[in-house]
Amino acid sequence: MDSLSLVGVSSLTRTISSLSLSSSSSCSDAVSTPGTERSLLFDDYDQSPINRADAGESFILVVGGLGYIGSHTTLELLKEGYNVIVVDDLSNSYLEVLDRIWLLAKEYLKTINRTLPSLKFHKIDYRDPAMRSVLATYDSTDGLGQSRSRISGAIHFAAFKSVEESISKPIPYYQNNVCGFVDFISVLEGFGIKNLVFSSSATVYGSMANQGVPLREEHCVHQQETYVDQLGQQRTVEGGVYGLTSPYGRTKWMCEAILADIARADPSWTITALRYFNPVGCHESGLLGEDPRQKPTNLVPVIMSVLEGERPVLQVFGTDWDTVDGTAVRDFIHVVDLARGHVAALAAAAKRPLREPFRTFNLGTGRGHSVREVLRSMEKASSRTVPVKEVARREGDVGSCVAEVRRAEAELGWRTQKSLDDCSVDVWNFLELSKRGQQI
Ligand code: NAD
Ligand code: WQD
Repeated sequence: MDSLSLVGVSSLTRTISSLSLSSSSSCSDAVSTPGTERSLLFDDYDQSPINRADAGESFILVVGGLGYIGSHTTLELLKEGYNVIVVDDLSNSYLEVLDRIWLLAKEYLKTINRTLPSLKFHKIDYRDPAMRSVLATYDSTDGLGQSRSRISGAIHFAAFKSVEESISKPIPYYQNNVCGFVDFISVLEGFGIKNLVFSSSATVYGSMANQGVPLREEHCVHQQETYVDQLGQQRTVEGGVYGLTSPYGRTKWMCEAILADIARADPSWTITALRYFNPVGCHESGLLGEDPRQKPTNLVPVIMSVLEGERPVLQVFGTDWDTVDGTAVRDFIHVVDLARGHVAALAAAAKRPLREPFRTFNLGTGRGHSVREVLRSMEKASSRTVPVKEVARREGDVGSCVAEVRRAEAELGWRTQKSLDDCSVDVWNFLELSKRGQQI
């Protein structure tokens, strides 16, 4: 357990319910949240922290900070004392999440007697030209009359992320994930904000993921690199990648390549691209979780929807992979560990320059679990049986995708702490709490 006791959790639940965030969120019932545009909690946060922030402190800008990974990261940043500005257009999230982040941060900081940092929220599409005005409000003037941003770093989560949808509708994916992103970088540069953490993905490894070896950062580079492999052999790799399987995957690879070019041209940038493996789980309180507006197709959310009775059965895609039990193997990482990886990346960037102005890091556990293992773990956490139908492999899938995690351990001083069972317990708690919240 983090600092939140079980008593704390249930009191949080009651608080949330009694504040009547009018429609509580659940994975199944991704309803809109009328009446929560300004809740009591929202008003609460709008006061003293804003004054504190006006005293000239620095902020981390979190773009897409109310989504699944962004919300957990915003919470971890607040817990570490960072002032946070969240920008989100709520295209795949709900404002209610902001209240929950703030509530959890307050509860945690109270237990360690630490002052509350500031949390600000701007509901805006990050591609909107008005983003410049938003950022301008965080400028301050130094003793020499020079304007300087109080935003010391930015994390970019705001992308569309459905692999399937990107295949049927590639244009909005390129518009949001690539075009919008390039314009955003230019806006950041205009404000002198040159410390960026980018949400990348294991998907950038393309067909390297078919080799059945742990994936290391050198398996996808953007300019020629020489490294020593696990057998002690010196290898030279060229920039580029083969076998990206979707427009979504291409957007992530393109953004990385663009960032590498930017850093090469101007080494005063510090750009960290974090390649997530398979994020699962949620905050142990059950108040934050994966609650998108868009219907998810990933393994754990699908199992959740079967447990909720929304889908009759889990289709297991492929039982003939060359793996321990024939089902596909992935590196499932608890989203709280992942969130802490972002805090570690910011801390590393602040402490010393990264080895290169553009640096990639795998965020995974370094250990694979099969689809059947995930299923068993979720069944254990829920004490229920999940009906299963074994079907053919899903197009574009690979048999095994596991991270080599030494670089993040060595250079970010970060490693995962939570297990697959922790993920399952937390996800089940989130489901249960969402159901209870709806009944109250
Ligand atoms: P998410 O959809 O839950 O969160 C994205 C957030 O960004 C949402 O709150 C959405 O409303 C917001 N957003 C999207 N476009 C926006 C825009 N134009 N302006 C402002 N806000 C916008 O997704 P997530 O799972 O939290 O993923 C976050 C990032 O991590 C994404 O870049 C995704 O590609 C990447 N990633 C996710 C996974 C995964 O399995 N979840 C794996 C690897 C990489
Ligand atoms: C995991 C395993 C499925 C659903 C995707 C993206 C990747 C990244 C993470 C963003 C696979 C099997 C799934 C189901 C099943 N996202 N499965 N039945 O495909 O490893 O990665 O999410 O960057 O880019 O591609 O994750 O959770 O969809 O699948 O059997 O109903 O579970 O076939 O083997 P994946 P996943």
